[in-house]
Amino acid sequence: MKVLAINGSPRKKGNTQILMEAAAEELRKAGAEVEMISIADFDIRPCTGCRRCYQKLWDCPIADDAIKVLKKVAYSDGILVGSPVFFGGVTAQLKALFDRSIMPYQALDFSDKVGGAITVGGSSHGGQELAALQIMSFFMCHNMVIATTKGEVLGGMATANDLGDAKKDENGIENAKSLAQRMAKLIGKR
Ligand SMILES: Cc1cc2nc3c(=O)[nH]c(=O)nc-3n(C[C@H](O)[C@H](O)[C@H](O)COP(=O)(O)O)c2cc1C
Repeated sequence: MKVLAINGSPRKKGNTQILMEAAAEELRKAGAEVEMISIADFDIRPCTGCRRCYQKLWDCPIADDAIKVLKKVAYSDGILVGSPVFFGGVTAQLKALFDRSIMPYQALDFSDKVGGAITVGGSSHGGQELAALQIMSFFMCHNMVIATTKGEVLGGMATANDLGDAKKDENGIENAKSLAQRMAKLIGKR
C-alpha cells in the first residue's frame, strides 16, 4: 500500500504539514508506505495549453519537475493532498500541478487511485471546504475514488494561522486521522 502525500503549501513546515503528518502516521499504522513531499521543493510551472501531451502521452515541452512528481503519483495506490487556503482555494503551486496532470489524464494513469484532501485556513470559515472541493474536483477529473472523514463532510480541515497553530486544533487533527483511516480502508479494497 503506497501513499504519496503532497503538501501544497509554500511554507514547508507549516500548519498543513502538521495535519499531513497526523494523517501519515495513521496511514503507516494501517500498513501503508508513505512518501511525504513538499511542493516547495519542486519547480512546477503552469500548463501553457500547447496540447503536445494529447499527441504523445506524457510528452511536455516544459522542462521542470512536473513529470517527476506526477510519476510518483502514478506509482502510488493513494494520494493525500494538502493545501492551505489561499483566497478561498488551493495554492497556485498546487493548482499548477493539477493542470499539468493533463499528462496522466490523457494516459488515464490515475484512475481508481484513492484520494484524500486536507485543507487549513486562518479563519474558521475561510474557504476550507472550497479548497477541499477543488482538490476533490482534481480527483474526480482523474476517475479516482474519494475518501472522506467521519467527522467532517469533505476531508481533514483545520483552522490555524500562525506557524504551529494547527497543533491546537484537536478536531482538525482528529479529522485528518479519520481521513487517513478511511483512505487505508479504501486502498485495501482496490
Ligand atoms: C496569500 C494568502 C492567502 C490566504 N487566504 C486565506 C483565505 O482565503 N482563507 C483563510 O482562511 N486563510 C487564508 N490564508 C491563511 C492561511 O491559509 C493560513 O495561515 C494557513 O495556516 C497556512 O498554512 P501553512 O502554514 O501550511 O502554509 C491565506 C494566507 C496567505 C499567505
